[in-house]
This record gives sequence, C-alpha cells and structure tokens, in this order.
Amino acid sequence: MSFENLHKETEKLLTAEVDKIVTQFEIGPEKLDQLTAHFIEAMEKGLNPDLSKDNSRGLPMIPTYVTGKPNGLEQGILMAADLGGSHFRVCSVKLNGDHTFTIEQLKSKIPEELLDDDNVTSEELFSFLARRTRAFIKKFHPEVFANAGKPNQESLKMGFTFSYPVDQKSLSHGTLIRWTKVFKIKDTIGKDVVELFQQQLDDHGMDMIRIVALTNDTVGTFLTHCYQTGDHETMTGEISEPVIGCIFGTGTNGCYMEKIENIKKLPEDTRNKLLSEGKTHMVINTEWGSFDNECKVLPTTKYDIDIDQKLSSNPGFHLFEKRVSGMFLGEILRNVLVDLHSRNLILTQYRTHDQLPHRLKTPFQLSTEVLSRIEIDDSSNLRETELSFLQSLRLPTSLNERKNIQRLVRVISRRSAYLAAAPIAAILIKTGSLHQRYHGEVEIGADGYLIEYYPGYRSMLRHALALSPIGTDGERKTHLKLSKDGSTTGAALCALVASTA
Ligand code: GLC
Repeated sequence: MSFENLHKETEKLLTAEVDKIVTQFEIGPEKLDQLTAHFIEAMEKGLNPDLSKDNSRGLPMIPTYVTGKPNGLEQGILMAADLGGSHFRVCSVKLNGDHTFTIEQLKSKIPEELLDDDNVTSEELFSFLARRTRAFIKKFHPEVFANAGKPNQESLKMGFTFSYPVDQKSLSHGTLIRWTKVFKIKDTIGKDVVELFQQQLDDHGMDMIRIVALTNDTVGTFLTHCYQTGDHETMTGEISEPVIGCIFGTGTNGCYMEKIENIKKLPEDTRNKLLSEGKTHMVINTEWGSFDNECKVLPTTKYDIDIDQKLSSNPGFHLFEKRVSGMFLGEILRNVLVDLHSRNLILTQYRTHDQLPHRLKTPFQLSTEVLSRIEIDDSSNLRETELSFLQSLRLPTSLNERKNIQRLVRVISRRSAYLAAAPIAAILIKTGSLHQRYHGEVEIGADGYLIEYYPGYRSMLRHALALSPIGTDGERKTHLKLSKDGSTTGAALCALVASTA
C-alpha cells in the first residue's frame, strides 16, 4: 500500500473508532430516567440508615445543622475562610442587610508540595491556612493585632467553608470522612477539621478568631443565593423558591433542604429537639460526587475505570464526580487519546508511548480549559484546536485528528452536563418543589467554572433536564442562577447564624 493510501486508511480507522467511543458516551432519556430514579432511592437510603445495611459507599447525605434560609436582611461583619480545590481564600464579609455584601479577600494558591506529597501532615496544611489568615489580617485589618491582648477585645467570628465530605455533628464541628479532588493527606481523615484549623490559628497568635461554623461550598452557595434573592418574584409575577445549591467546578456536589422528620439518621433526641423548637427543615449536603459508587446505573467506559482505579487518589469513590467535574474532563480525553495512540490510530508520528510528548503522558495535564476552546472552535481547519494542542501539550495534530478530537470533546462535555441533570431532577421530584405554590417555580444557585465558563454547558444541562422525568414543563419552571463566590459568603452567613443562635 502506498504511503498516501496507508494514511487515508488510518484516517478512516480513526474516525470509525471514534464513532464507537462517541456512542459509549451518549446518554438518552431512558438513561436519565434510570439515573434519576436511582438517585431518589440513594437519597432515601442515605437519610435512613435502616434502609441499607452498609451505606459506606452510598450517597453520604450529610446533615449540616443549617435549619433556615437567610432572607437578605441579615447584617454584620464576619470572617470567612474557604478551602476549595486548588485555592484557599480568607475574607471579611460585610453583610449590608439589603441582599448585598462587600468582601475583602486574600486568595492564595495551595502550594504544590501540599498536594503531591503523600507525607504531608494535617499540621502543615492547617499551618499554611493560618499563615495566610495572618497575612490577610495584617493587610486588611491591622487594628486586630494592634488591639491584641487588650481587655475587651472582641473575638472575630469566622465561618469555615471546607469543601470535602465531613461527618458533621453540629454547626461548628465535623470530622473528615475522606479527601476528594486534589488532597491526599492521610492523617486528616477522622479528625475534626475545625479543631485542626483553630489550633493553628491559636498557635499563630490569632486566638481572637473563633471558628463558629463549618460549612460546605454547596451550602455556602445555597445560603448566599437565598441572601441575595430571598423569595422573589419572577417576570411572570410568580414567587420562585431557592431549592438547590450546587457546584460544577473542580468537583461537583449539591445540597437542598429536607424535612427534618425525614432525616432518620439524626439521633432521635436531636430530631425531636429541633422539631420542638419549631424547625422544620435542614440543609442536606448530598455529596452527589459519590452517587452510584457501585456503578449500577452510571454509564461506564474503560476510560472511567482506568481513571478511577489507576489515576485517582480515592479509587471506588466519587465515581459520579469522575465523570462530571472539571477536574476529570480533560483527563478523560487524555486517556482516550493515549489509548487511540496505543492502537496506532492517532498521532502515529510517535512510534511508541515513550515518544509521546511528556505532557500527554502525564495525568491531569490536559485541562478542561483546553477542552472549552476546542468545544467552540469553528475556525478554518480547526486552527484554534491546533494551537491549543501545540501550546498546552506541545503536540502537533492533523486536520482529521482534530476533527475527531473535537467530536470527543463534545461528547465528553455533553455526557457531563447530561449526568448533571439527574441529581437536580431527582431533588426537585423528591422534594415536590415543582408542585408547591401555584406554579412551582424553583431556583437553583450554582457556581463553579463549568457552569460559569464552559461554552454551552448550561444549555446542555437544561436540555437534559427537559429530557429527564421533570420534562419540558419542569425544565421551564427551573431557574438556574449563577451564585458567584457564594461559597465564601455563605460561610459568613453561617457564622452569623451560629453566633446569634
Ligand atoms: C467534592 C467534595 C464536596 C464539594 C465538591 C465541590 O465533591 O467532596 O464536598 O462540595 O467537591 O467543590
């Protein structure tokens, strides 16, 4: 066969193989029905220990001890700290009492050595957080140190957003169940993260700061959304109600308000006490990243299995997140490309795996940001894709390869957005929110870079909601709102609630 014919043959084979992969990533209405039904079942099991013998790999459904929604009239100045994926933020938040707030903040990237090294200790991590807090106080509130030790010095109330699964026993205490996303520090597991942070604040001369509330980023986003909007009228004159807070960023997760009487995992005396105080609902942090860890209904390709088993720090857990969140979309594409290369279908100029550019061989080096550029590339000959691959991976590509890469990108992101619709539809159905009030309009406060920046992500999610059991009618009544930076402000709202409770 001539070289030209061989080349054409390889092109055809690549396209045919990508056709097959595309099919494995597709999700239709039937799958959405299954996923939604299974999610409702998982929520019930997670709330009620009697329904499942061992729920250790099930949906965590964590009670947060947040029992009310802000209405926007709250006032006060509070501190907030937020440990998310790759950054730590420390802020002072002024809640103005009119649905608005002002923030002063210091954002720091978590140093690589705290992420990569298996030998890092909790003390090192929390000491870093305390040192950044000190730097923030020095810069924005130097009077705090000037007044340190003086009689009558008031303590500063801090809310701590810690966006990992914790076993929460009260509004201000919780022990880490397991790390997700980027951290691996073993000795934090099972420890109270508020105590660890408070200890370091004290040791670094900041005992005037008291951490009074612990929250998750989804809960923070939900509370901030409530604070900013309250119950408010939509354009049709309907009152719409905030129902879900969710994140689609490095990780993915969601929270909602559940009836306290349904939260059977709460000790009976706690449940009765709350009910006798007139509390009816509590925010539940679902930790939906861990939905269907048993893979009963989750669509699974060999790439998903490899990423979970060989490349992630928590194999067997957070399998939904590994198909949906921003941390994994680029990694899925990278795994597909390496596989296609191993079968001589793509990038054939590199004869062996070893010869591939280093960045393509390195896990998590292909970022979701690159995918977002390829997703909407309509330049001639997919020039934008060519440049993105050259810049990010030092990888030259042919036009046919780029066409196929674009198809892969689009099907990976679409699977993510379609999967994302299932827990949302499930929560709306379980809570009956779409049928409360006359027209049942609901709001979802969402944050994270997929929702904010990934081209078409929100429309794909909406499309999937319309295909899900809530149908086009439910989709129309669901208002997906960006609640930017909600996770940090929410910690301040929690701290306010805690200090006035
Ligand atoms: C991961 C964490 C979860 C967090 C989410 C979004 O799934 O386990 O707590 O809310 O990421 O940051």
